[in-house]
Amino acid sequence: MKNTILTLQQRKQNQQKITMLTAYDYTTAKLMDESGVDCLLVGDSLGMVMLGYDSTVSVTMEDMIHHSKAVARAAKTAFVVTDLPFMSYHTSVYDAVLNAGRLIKEGQAQAVKLEGGQAFCEHIKMITQASIPVIAHIGLMPQSVLALGGYKVQGKDYQQAKNIILDALAVEQAGAAAILLECVPAVLATLISELVSVPTIGIGAGAGCDGQVLVYQDMLSMYDGVSSKFAKSFAPIGEQMKQAFKQYCHEVTEQQFPASIHEFAIDDVIIQNLKSEFLTDNRSIV
Ligand code: KIV
Repeated sequence: MKNTILTLQQRKQNQQKITMLTAYDYTTAKLMDESGVDCLLVGDSLGMVMLGYDSTVSVTMEDMIHHSKAVARAAKTAFVVTDLPFMSYHTSVYDAVLNAGRLIKEGQAQAVKLEGGQAFCEHIKMITQASIPVIAHIGLMPQSVLALGGYKVQGKDYQQAKNIILDALAVEQAGAAAILLECVPAVLATLISELVSVPTIGIGAGAGCDGQVLVYQDMLSMYDGVSSKFAKSFAPIGEQMKQAFKQYCHEVTEQQFPASIHEFAIDDVIIQNLKSEFLTDNRSIV
């Protein structure tokens, strides 16, 4: 059965943890779906891990729709959430609703995520009013990297921590269906998870959140662009891929691949006829 926003909310009520991973393409999304991951996030991190940008700010609506459609086609069970990219909702509430609608209609997402707390409550309210579930991303907001001057843990002093709590309460009040907490102290995230009734999903926010999310290239050691303390490697897939690519190059150059088991056959009579038709004295087909 397909997961919905209610599945995530029931998980919180039943004190069961929510699993979320980023996904950007059909093949990987299908593997995750078949592995029982609850929720696939088509994150704008795709700008970095799939497109090679330094940050997420260059990602466009077209990029998000393209990848969201691919993930949605694979997600038979998993709930699909797609990020509103930088400048697709900052300009006005109207743009926010319009672009959230595009992610649902064209990108086949089941919910959208946007980065912002108290300042984006009107946007969250109006998107929610359009019957689109919104996940509010607070704490470290990577789309604000230029203003923040880098990726830093948020909420370490009293004022910052209080502000993040106020963000969480405000977005819940505005109608956010879940809250994503990035790079905040673990005890602060636990406190927020107790204060709000909607599920919290953490990345670099400790074990007290109602669920966890990781960028899949991080958990498989496939990407070395930005390293984070919280990004546990679950398998050295990046290294295994490199070994496989090297082995492929070796076998092709050494003429070990393809072997006869990888070849298609043709009737000998046909090939003899073709040879006598095409082979001349000064040209030969081996
Ligand atoms: O874009 C993304 O992948 C995210 C994660 C960092 C949670 O927002």
